[in-house]
Amino acid sequence: MYNFLPIAYFQDKFVPFAEATISIATHALHYGTGAFGGMRGIPNPENPSQILLFRLDRHSQRLSQSAKFLHYNLPATKIQETIIEFVKKNRPTSSFYIRPFVYTSDLGIAPRLHNIDKNFAVYGIELGDYLSPAGVSCRISSWQRQEDASFPLRGKICGAYITSSLAKTEAAESGFDEAILMNSQGKVSEASGMNIFVVRNGQIITPGFDHDILEGITRDSVVTIAKNFGIPVIERAVDKSELLIADEVFLSGTAAKVVPVNRIENYYLPENRPISEKIREKLVAITENRDSEYQDWVFPIDI
Ligand SMILES: Cc1ncc(COP(=O)(O)O)c(C=O)c1O
Repeated sequence: MYNFLPIAYFQDKFVPFAEATISIATHALHYGTGAFGGMRGIPNPENPSQILLFRLDRHSQRLSQSAKFLHYNLPATKIQETIIEFVKKNRPTSSFYIRPFVYTSDLGIAPRLHNIDKNFAVYGIELGDYLSPAGVSCRISSWQRQEDASFPLRGKICGAYITSSLAKTEAAESGFDEAILMNSQGKVSEASGMNIFVVRNGQIITPGFDHDILEGITRDSVVTIAKNFGIPVIERAVDKSELLIADEVFLSGTAAKVVPVNRIENYYLPENRPISEKIREKLVAITENRDSEYQDWVFPIDI
């Protein structure tokens, strides 16, 4: 069960979460014509009257771009201002996750994006660990990641998550924690809601933007942190067989942060994971504002 933050943003105003409800005839519910974001925040461990949001600007920008695919003009500044207000109204007391989203809000049928109202809403939940930081097992999914030719992969579009859901459930029902999806070229793309990294011989390798990945904001953070540590990062096609013999594999995402993979199919990965650990520790320190080098990634909000 989730603990929802008490106040939601819905139909242009802040209301109690329980009152932010929609009709069963809502267009987006039927056609997947929505887009969403997801960002994490924590109370500042040094100052409980301050909330720290991680990379608010990038998350707002990505949702604004996703909204464009829905023919909805929602400036990143509007998203950012609404989220700041949302945090002030909710005054969270523990680690939380904010879910801002846009959707075709008219009632009725016919898939389209023109001549239809859209809406912007925000809610939040308290959220600790999404996946075990001790490591997860992964199945190579029988479901493929979508291609940009049939789906706007630069957006975080609701409809795409049928594939993630199929893959995650397939993995869970066969005894794994998570799924790794290949793309239509048979190369590694990403997990059900996370980007993927492989470590081999002291180098980090990750599928590039030309491998049908979501442009993950945690991925971007990991790449920057690794490069600043002097660890080479190579963005290129990754084969399935490379995963199986890797020194380390880890997943990155807002909800999951950085999570090591301990097993892929019937291949067990080494338990010693110096690079994954180093990056995870750094990322956690940054989100908790304990690292002056990356202070521009952390948005303090006085509540
Ligand atoms: C399909 C997919 N890939 C990757 C990611 C990781 O993106 P981010 O680091 O921006 O959360 C997510 C999570 O939002 C996702 O849903």
